[in-house]
Amino acid sequence: MDRFAVILAAGKGTRMKSKLYKVLHPVLGKPMVEHVVDQLDNIGVSRQIVIVGHGAEAVQDTLGSRVDYAVQEEQLGTGHAVQMAESELAGKQGATLVVCGDTPLLTAETLEALLAHHEAQDAKVTVLTAIADDATGYGRVIRGEDGNVTKVVEHKDASEAELAIREINTGTYVFDNELLFEALRQVGNDNAQGEYYLPDVISIAKQAGEVVAAHTAPTFDETIGVNDRVALAQAETIMRKRTNERLMRAGVTFMDPASTYISPDAVIGSDTIVYPGTVILGKTVIGSECVIGPNSDIRNSVIEDGATVRQSVLSDSRVGNGAQVGPFAHLRQQAVLGANTRVGNFVEIKKSTFGDGAKASHLSYIGDASIGERVNLGCGSITVNYDGKNKFETVVEADAFVGCNVNLIAPVTVGKGAIVAAGSTITDDVPEEALAIARERQTNKEGYTKR
Ligand code: UD1
Ligand code: MG
Repeated sequence: MDRFAVILAAGKGTRMKSKLYKVLHPVLGKPMVEHVVDQLDNIGVSRQIVIVGHGAEAVQDTLGSRVDYAVQEEQLGTGHAVQMAESELAGKQGATLVVCGDTPLLTAETLEALLAHHEAQDAKVTVLTAIADDATGYGRVIRGEDGNVTKVVEHKDASEAELAIREINTGTYVFDNELLFEALRQVGNDNAQGEYYLPDVISIAKQAGEVVAAHTAPTFDETIGVNDRVALAQAETIMRKRTNERLMRAGVTFMDPASTYISPDAVIGSDTIVYPGTVILGKTVIGSECVIGPNSDIRNSVIEDGATVRQSVLSDSRVGNGAQVGPFAHLRQQAVLGANTRVGNFVEIKKSTFGDGAKASHLSYIGDASIGERVNLGCGSITVNYDGKNKFETVVEADAFVGCNVNLIAPVTVGKGAIVAAGSTITDDVPEEALAIARERQTNKEGYTKR
């Protein structure tokens, strides 16, 4: 059966008190709505339609062309929001998942289980429910004598007795696609909020004699809808715990999981140790037997087996096998280090490659450079790569030795095995095996201070 998905993301998110559109607030570095879209990708749906309203462009910039969009100009309720997808989906046969863009913790497993239950029950509507300790604000699930769902009542419309019910509507559903759009035409807005409620489709289907099923999520936590910053922090905590526990079970050691923040998209090999205060975000891949942290901030980078990254900041970079980075190094914008390289304290590397065994141990800026195998860049080596308008390249060939406090004024090449004397400002290429000295000679003025 064809699967479609509609993601509701047009609400203003007033309670976030933010300039940032609600569904773009990140959880472990990734916008909430992207978590939802990723899970839907994992279960495989043929179309994903994101309903956008205010801030539509920001959502489109984030998700790009991986989904389709429908605009809801005025937020008249969740039922009205789904109707915006009608021109894209009406008349198609299949199952349509409706998910809110503010439920970042939902997993592909639960969505699969929901779909499986929907199919097994031969239902026209299946609602994902959860048991809440505190159901305040949620729609309550009303079940009939036979245990089947008869309707969902919003908190603001509920009676005393209904308010006592702890089974809530998570806001995630599967609908028979054709029934969904037919039933939505019959949904009115005669309720406490004057809105067109999507859950009203449940009672409409029920009254038409269709099968309405319910599937209960394994935990309430997985279903929380983030409406304010308190819930956002709760979502962070839950996702952090979930991700870290999965990694620990896969053989990663955490000294203090509570202070270690890892994207669910990151991959870490076994016997790697992660020290506290570490943030690993984006699609970072870390090999086995690495030592990471304390206090490292690593984004969208690859770290190969046996490497160490202490107290350092890395983005969009790569660290080879057995390399040692830090403390206090900064790698960014495609810094690529070969195997067994060494990058020490206060070294910044931008858009440069280091061949195997190359070193820059202290106080350097290396930008737009290609550094050969086994090159030693002495303390204070600087590539002068920028003239205020353009960037230029520096090449240091294999086995060259660059002394301390050297400026390499790009474009420039230091040949294979050459030596650059300490304190030199190199403006011309240095031939292979040569010694380059480019500094003033020292003069001593004897007895000067006595005069
Ligand atoms: C909704 C459900 C409630 C459920 C709860 C779960 C309805 C009427 N109620 O309530 O039963 O327990 O979710 O979290 O559906 N949105 C639009 N356009 C609109 C209105 C909302 O796109 O016109 C989007 C919002 O951006 C949000 C989602 O729909 O992502 C849910 O809306 P929200 O206002 O948060 O609904 P709840 O009051 O939480
Ligand atoms: Mg909500």
